[in-house]
Amino acid sequence: MQEQAIAWRHAGDDIGFVPTMGALHGGHESLVTRARKENRRVIASIFVNPAQFGPNEDLDAYPRPFEADRARLAALGVDAIFHPPVDQIYPPAFKTHVDPGPLAEALEGKIRPGHFAGVLTVVLKLFNLTQPKRAYFGQKDFQQLVLVRQLVRDFGLPIRIVACPTVRQPDGLALSSRNAYLDPAQRAAAPAISRALDAAAKAFAAGSTQPAELESVARSILQGIPGSTIEYAAVVDETTLRAPSRAIAGSVLAVAVKLGSTRLIDNVVLGAERL
Ligand code: PAF
Repeated sequence: MQEQAIAWRHAGDDIGFVPTMGALHGGHESLVTRARKENRRVIASIFVNPAQFGPNEDLDAYPRPFEADRARLAALGVDAIFHPPVDQIYPPAFKTHVDPGPLAEALEGKIRPGHFAGVLTVVLKLFNLTQPKRAYFGQKDFQQLVLVRQLVRDFGLPIRIVACPTVRQPDGLALSSRNAYLDPAQRAAAPAISRALDAAAKAFAAGSTQPAELESVARSILQGIPGSTIEYAAVVDETTLRAPSRAIAGSVLAVAVKLGSTRLIDNVVLGAERL
């Protein structure tokens, strides 16, 4: 992969890179479509990264429909699909890990310790193997996006990170590979997550700037999802991920909700058209 990528760069071709764990949906497709428009070459990776799953998470159950993924990516005109085996990314001698620092301790990081160390370690390795000029990430994984930007800044990586809007079902549910785990009743209830974000965004637009007030608007809707647990519903600063004393345009309301054993995350940028 790296030899091919370097050859493309030496030939003067820009590379756009879309890292994925497969089980592709319209969200991934929007990233590839954007990459296709902006780069001479497009590489998509499919790698279910064991390092970002905790011991009791869904690594084994994570869907791996490789043939369907390959066909989708081929239809979108990617130049290469990088689908390495686990022992090629993490050979027995593999030792070094990225320490993502304090931004990884908020939100997801509190509930999934070690998750972002695993994400940033694989993202750094994938960047080096695919030599992108631009790399494409979804806004749905908002904290991941913030941390990848931090990685790029801290290590001086010559890569532009392009954030792409969350893609939703017509009923508002954010596309996620994990939606496949929902049973019909959970699937029917899940759009309440997006309604909760909308309601808080509307309250902000109507003048409410107290984080606790906005969070409680969201929580009151999330609580109506049968069999659900709210892991967090928090207004945070878009770059520091800290709780602001008052929400301002650009603050982000991020939520994580468990429906049965399925965790779903979503977010809204306050004061913006829905990203
Ligand atoms: O967002 C994902 O699918 C993963 O976290 C990523 C960026 C491909 C790293 O494994």
